[in-house]
Amino acid sequence: MKILILAAGRSSRFNGACSKVLTKFWGVRVVDMLIARANNVGQTYIMVNENVDKAIKHNRKIVQDMNNYGTGAAVQQYVSNMEEDDLLVIPGDLPLLDEAAMQKVTNTPGDIVIGVMRMPEGAEQYGRIIMEGDHVKAIVEHRFHEEKTQFANTGVILIRKNALHLIKDLKKNSSGEIYLTDIVQLANQAGLQVGISSLLYNCVLGFNTVDELNQLLQLAQINWRNRAVESGAVFYDISKVYFSYDTKIEQGVVVEPNCYFGPGVVLKSGAYIKTFSVFSDCVVSGAVGPFAHIKSGSIAHGSQVGAFVEVSKSDVAQGAKIKHLAYIGNAKIGENSNVGAGVVVCNYDGKNKSETEIGKNVMVGANSSLIAPISIGDSAFLAAGGVYTKNIEEMEFAIARARQENKGKKQDV
Ligand code: UD1
Ligand code: CA
Repeated sequence: MKILILAAGRSSRFNGACSKVLTKFWGVRVVDMLIARANNVGQTYIMVNENVDKAIKHNRKIVQDMNNYGTGAAVQQYVSNMEEDDLLVIPGDLPLLDEAAMQKVTNTPGDIVIGVMRMPEGAEQYGRIIMEGDHVKAIVEHRFHEEKTQFANTGVILIRKNALHLIKDLKKNSSGEIYLTDIVQLANQAGLQVGISSLLYNCVLGFNTVDELNQLLQLAQINWRNRAVESGAVFYDISKVYFSYDTKIEQGVVVEPNCYFGPGVVLKSGAYIKTFSVFSDCVVSGAVGPFAHIKSGSIAHGSQVGAFVEVSKSDVAQGAKIKHLAYIGNAKIGENSNVGAGVVVCNYDGKNKSETEIGKNVMVGANSSLIAPISIGDSAFLAAGGVYTKNIEEMEFAIARARQENKGKKQDV
């Protein structure tokens, strides 16, 4: 099966700074989230406009000819380029849509299958599903049919291979657009079967305006919190923990309140997350926080990253301790090493980032600066307050600070 994400719209109702599909949704662009999920279900293509084309890297993009506008025009252009196969069409503005909802539509019988939801209260701009008993007669846009119907069109539509030829017969309507939704009438005229698949609104609400986006941002957290509690982890107050669409949590994890998990986080069994800590792109099995920032890398089992410590693109091995006020960037910290309070890994010279390697059982004294690139052998001891620029051998004791002189009693002034 092929999947087509429609991401070429003008976003004319969205007064954000960019195309709505490029908007960040809890740290990930809406279109990237959809691509990641759709890739798990079928071979994914994206219909883009020029702006979106420039902004995303993907090897199956099609740039829409904007002389023909509308969801139907977008699918027409796809069909004229591709070999025939079952096609699942997904609007690019459904950030809550997950694999399960895509699968549900795909598993429903029918030559055409319309993903529908109960008409949401307050929202006006959904296509109305016109039914006759169990039979779907048509989908009519709100501007042509103000009265609400029981079901709304989610925009997720499956067109099976044998019905794909109908796409070319879609015509421009009085609004000057070609609507994909008109395929229902064409299918009925051709005697093909139109199925419906009923989806939960919390997976298929879309956004056209910033207000709607803000509502979906909240709704997504409700979904992700529900998923998190099913993991068997302990949350002291889940209403004050924020997740991303891909946060993975194992049983036996404990999370205190006021933590934020950005994209790409895996919390492994044994992780203990203390309050006010922020994470992205990392695997955590140790203890972190309070007030820690883990930007990328790994925090191994039995290690401790404490208060006001930032770890960026670094791996902290088992049993290592970085307990207070430190910055660790582009570094590897070996097993059972201790990094003292106020240690800074100076990884950036203004142009390039360099690596730091700290072996096992190393003691880095408090308030030291490690000027990268630098490597420190196992069991070395670095005295406090040093500025270390040269490699240090295994078992070596190093000191890099001005010697204190006590010069007798001070003079009265
Ligand atoms: C569409 C449906 C509506 C449904 C709603 C669900 C049609 C005609 N209407 O309306 O029945 O209830 O979605 O959210 O299909 N796009 C393109 N190329 C275009 C036009 C749009 O790629 O030429 C993309 C947009 O970027 C967007 C998606 O298609 O991601 C949907 O377009 P949008 O204009 O938001 O459709 P709605 O008016 O919400
Ligand atoms: Ca929309």
